[in-house]
Amino acid sequence: MHDQQPPLMEPYARHVLVCTGGYCSTDRRGRAIYAKLAGLLQREGLLFGPRRVKRSEAPCLGVCAGGPIVAVYPDGIWYGGVTPELLERIVVEHLRDGRPVEGAIFHRLAPSPTR
Ligand code: FES
Repeated sequence: MHDQQPPLMEPYARHVLVCTGGYCSTDRRGRAIYAKLAGLLQREGLLFGPRRVKRSEAPCLGVCAGGPIVAVYPDGIWYGGVTPELLERIVVEHLRDGRPVEGAIFHRLAPSPTR
């Protein structure tokens, strides 16, 4: 039997995707990055309320080099080679303070004409 209740989404500000696959970092360092992310979000007060940051792990984000790869949406900003130290900067400077860590960005989603 399917649950007939519609899905419910609490407010959130950003969604962070972390690749935990084995191609962008052969030792799968993304798994440690993903595990560390929850604690940092909690520490910075980003787990609840309108500034909430959702997080998800993905088996591959289609980059497959230079990882671990972390993508932040709706900003469309992609970070590569994410170390625990860089993850902390991403959480504090980008997710908490709204200033992307410029030197670590390898890709930005081009603005859509409809956005
Ligand atoms: S395995 Fe990480 S982007 Fe493909």
